[in-house]
Amino acid sequence: MQPIVLSTWSFGPVANNPAWEVLVRRGDEGGGGGGVLDAVIAGATAVENDPTINSVGIGGLPDASGRVSLDGCVMENPDRAGSVACLRRFANPCAIARRVMEKTIHIMLVGEDADRFAEREGFAPIGEKGLLTDYARGEWEKWISDPRHLDRDKYRGWIPPLNIEEKARSGPDQSHDTVCVLGMDGRGRLAGACSTSGMAFKVPGRVGDSPIIGHGLYVDQEAGAAAATGNGELVMGTCGSFLAVEMMRRGAMPIDAATEALTRITRRFKLGPDHQVAMIVMASAKGAGGHGREWGGWASAAIRPGFQHTITDAGGTRVEPAQRVLMA
Ligand code: GLY
Repeated sequence: MQPIVLSTWSFGPVANNPAWEVLVRRGDEGGGGGGVLDAVIAGATAVENDPTINSVGIGGLPDASGRVSLDGCVMENPDRAGSVACLRRFANPCAIARRVMEKTIHIMLVGEDADRFAEREGFAPIGEKGLLTDYARGEWEKWISDPRHLDRDKYRGWIPPLNIEEKARSGPDQSHDTVCVLGMDGRGRLAGACSTSGMAFKVPGRVGDSPIIGHGLYVDQEAGAAAATGNGELVMGTCGSFLAVEMMRRGAMPIDAATEALTRITRRFKLGPDHQVAMIVMASAKGAGGHGREWGGWASAAIRPGFQHTITDAGGTRVEPAQRVLMA
């Protein structure tokens, strides 16, 4: 097999370049697939550590109360998965999720106890102030100064009383740009990592699809890997990543698996104009669905235009539009 790294959005080169470096350097080492898992985590970590990316890690936009919380997970197989949600003091959910997978009998830790776990495991805390950049704080101040948000019941009690001059929120919707990184090494072993600061200005305590195994990410060496970005609630209502992998297990090619998972969302939800979900999907080395065909390859698809994936292989790194868009 040829190694490959596939990630979400145009910030993908930030993820793919370090992931590729690890994959090419270590991908052929033995030891239970550590190389490709190391690679996807290196990719997600680079995005988490980039303060200019406002949807993942340091620099992520905060919740309605002005505090950043981070979610993430990693996966190699149904019995090799780890996850953390609602971290508030540490920048790297995927690396911490790996430690949950490797050091505990559990899959998922949440909230303050997940922060404490990270501390006990020797991760360096950046603190709440370290996660919230000046830019992110400024965006939050713009958001809360819009009385439309203050009036909404779902935020009542969470937003501090303000006396800020009224300003409308401006700029593009910044609320859902999860980084998902899927990798395959030279032996055909798969791994995935998924990391986000979640929906911007969410109700505090809200956790989306990204750290939930089967929703934001699912990997099964026998069937394939899939990951989702966009409005987490839509993905969670349909177990999006699990569904795409199960489609491949039954013989679907990656593009058809992604299309089916996204079509399920368009059929079962009343979508608003800002609703977007995109998926990246990679077949198992055993062939799409394991039915003896040649390797089924990979795919990306989105409900609406605008999504880009980043692909790295022996030919280099390319940022490309989704291969299929369901709603023009
Ligand atoms: N897809 C990221 C989230 O909704 O939190």
